[in-house]
Amino acid sequence: MYEYDLTKPLTWAECHAQDHAALAAGPVSRYADGSPVFVRYEDVAHLLNHPDGHLGYGEQMVQTGVTDGFLHQVISGSFIVAPEADHARLRALVSRAFAVRPMERMRGVARKVAEEALDNLSPGKEFDLFEDFAGRVPLHVMCSLLGIPEDYAGELRTFLRAVSPAMLAPELTPEIRDTAERALARLYAYADEVALQKLANPDDDLISLLAVAERDGRMSRVELQSMITMLLFAGTDTTRSLIGMGLFTLAQHPEELAKLNADPELAVTAVEEVLRFACPSPWVSRFALKKIERAGVTLEPGALFILSLATANLDPAQFSQPDTFDIRRKESANITFGRGKHFCLGAALARVEGQEVLRALGARGLKLSVAGDEPPRFIRAGAMVEPAAPVSLRVHR
Ligand code: HEM
Repeated sequence: MYEYDLTKPLTWAECHAQDHAALAAGPVSRYADGSPVFVRYEDVAHLLNHPDGHLGYGEQMVQTGVTDGFLHQVISGSFIVAPEADHARLRALVSRAFAVRPMERMRGVARKVAEEALDNLSPGKEFDLFEDFAGRVPLHVMCSLLGIPEDYAGELRTFLRAVSPAMLAPELTPEIRDTAERALARLYAYADEVALQKLANPDDDLISLLAVAERDGRMSRVELQSMITMLLFAGTDTTRSLIGMGLFTLAQHPEELAKLNADPELAVTAVEEVLRFACPSPWVSRFALKKIERAGVTLEPGALFILSLATANLDPAQFSQPDTFDIRRKESANITFGRGKHFCLGAALARVEGQEVLRALGARGLKLSVAGDEPPRFIRAGAMVEPAAPVSLRVHR
């Protein structure tokens, strides 16, 4: 069985080589902790929505020794891992706010911040892609959607950066955990404070909607706190990874960037291709509630298993020439946002943000290059792709 090591920093070409080695070795690989990793598109799509597969993030957190505190609460107390009835109730509360039409209203915010972020780049001068560029649009859009004042964005970013390394980290040191706990304590207190303010003065933002739902007994205080905190994480680092990987991939494929520059409307299909080729959410996990049999593997009740979205997106049985980055690709059935009842709530929003950044980039006709002698490396051990070290790019006219 292929040993799938997601903790090693690899160049993107090496990540693809690893995915292809896994696909060639058979339908199931093995992760470092012994968990099976399903790699083929068909199996991943099937198991994503299996009635006996429960989201495994709570169990994974317990396996890394986190059984209490805010870090435990933000994952284990979140609606995404709640029993089916609570999941459905809480998802229904917020899903209308995330539908395609309301998300289109966020397009203006995304466009404005994307233009500002590009204005800040000086031709020829290096910039830190993930730290200084890619995170701006998601953070400001989430503030706007939730109803958090713009001037709080900087502080929020500091909190989120303090917590991210602890989220589903395979090796959680006491220092990382401690930093995350302190930041989360502040975030929870802030969520409480804003919810109270919104209740006194409701607006058309998401925190107002949640505060009213809590007042009316449709959700508890703990559910409200977890929802706000979880949405902040689910909605910022993921899309930051999409935008960062998008620019990085375009820098590596100048011929595709030239097509985008010639026709910025290609941003729509370009985002789909980035989602597939540079999949920002490498994997998701499930926990078998009952015995599940698939691809010759028997998963006993209690078994944790991994579904590799990144590998499924390269499966030649699903995509022709999967290693070709083609921003005009017609097949767009990437599986990056999952499937079924846990399908990403923020998919429409993430698409809007990615499209606005790429459209603004194309409209300016900018070229991109990766700075430095060493090719950037990435780590896929967490819920989203992270650069192993800062990735520096340059823009050119
Ligand atoms: C490119 C950006 C994004 C990617 C790649 C991504 C990926 C995913 C994936 C793979 C899942 C399914 C998890 C599973 O089945 O275990 C998911 C669920 C979810 N995502 Fe996203 N996401 C992105 C952006 C967002 C944004 C912007 C938000 C919110 C503002 C968001 C909120 C959520 C929520 C709440 C769920 C859980 C839904 C449920 O369990 O019912 N995501 N996301």
